[in-house]
Amino acid sequence: MFWATFTLGLVALSASFVSAVDPYTGGDTSGCGTAHLFDGLPRYLSLDTGGTTRSYWIHLPSDYHPDQQYPVVFGFHGRGTNGEFFYQDTHLSMPRFSANKIMVYPDGLGRAWAGPEYAKASVEQDLQFVWDMLAHVRSKYCVDSARIYATGFSNGAGFLDTLACNATVGGEFAAFAPASGVYYTEPDGACEPARTPMPFLEMHGQADGAARYAGGRGTGGTLPQMSDWLALWADRNGCGDPKQEDSDGGNVHFLSYDCKGDQGAGALQHWRVDDMGMFRSHTSFCFDAYAISSSACMAGTTH
Ligand SMILES: *[C@@H]1O[C@H](CO)[C@@H](O)[C@H](O)[C@H]1NC(C)=O
Repeated sequence: MFWATFTLGLVALSASFVSAVDPYTGGDTSGCGTAHLFDGLPRYLSLDTGGTTRSYWIHLPSDYHPDQQYPVVFGFHGRGTNGEFFYQDTHLSMPRFSANKIMVYPDGLGRAWAGPEYAKASVEQDLQFVWDMLAHVRSKYCVDSARIYATGFSNGAGFLDTLACNATVGGEFAAFAPASGVYYTEPDGACEPARTPMPFLEMHGQADGAARYAGGRGTGGTLPQMSDWLALWADRNGCGDPKQEDSDGGNVHFLSYDCKGDQGAGALQHWRVDDMGMFRSHTSFCFDAYAISSSACMAGTTH
């Protein structure tokens, strides 16, 4: 069964996190040393950014130590939902996934993220929001700034690509794990990642009717073909040809690329499930997939 493959992957990828090196001390650690109430439960925070008030949910480990620096995982929701829906739907705040991390689930403006035509915020506004949110989180909580990651679904996954293509804001992230992404800013957007490689793990259903694998016209503009999207990141990351593993009777395909640099092994990874539409986390398959995405990210750092 294919979800078993994912579970195995999860174990292997988690192992690489357990052996991670010491926290990076060069970032803003002013949020360290302060204890918080209700650790282990989600809290809702707001901040002013670019003249508007924006909000996000934050979830600390239930045994949060004010002096321990934690990795941070941002989860960007899909169109028409919000940060609360994303954490409920993905289960990413369950101790199994969030025990040693700070989870952050931001709300998009008008329940969407910048890039597609239907977005309410401009790319500039949403990048500024992420930038200001990073400062806000670091000022209140104890963050390992070399281990900041992002995952997302659909419109939120597409925004990860936009983020990664901006050297200033995207450069703060060590890796990205989008699922069922709509990469509207890719076909003609300028992409200048901060580093080579910029690790990506992408998961996509071949039967997805909205985030279509074959690309073309979507509800928010023009989508790239997924094969082209992969080729773009393989090129930017300096990768060779992928190794492919097929499972579930040829229904599930895993592509892993070895790319440039110290963190180049597997710096681009792609799961394609032939008979699956959008990733829905109520299936074991997707539940494990999100778990993998948050764990897989843990392998790399920005410093
Ligand atoms: C990245 O985004 C910020 C905020 O929108 C913008 O000011 C900057 O010019 C962008 N580009 C680069 C290369 O940093």
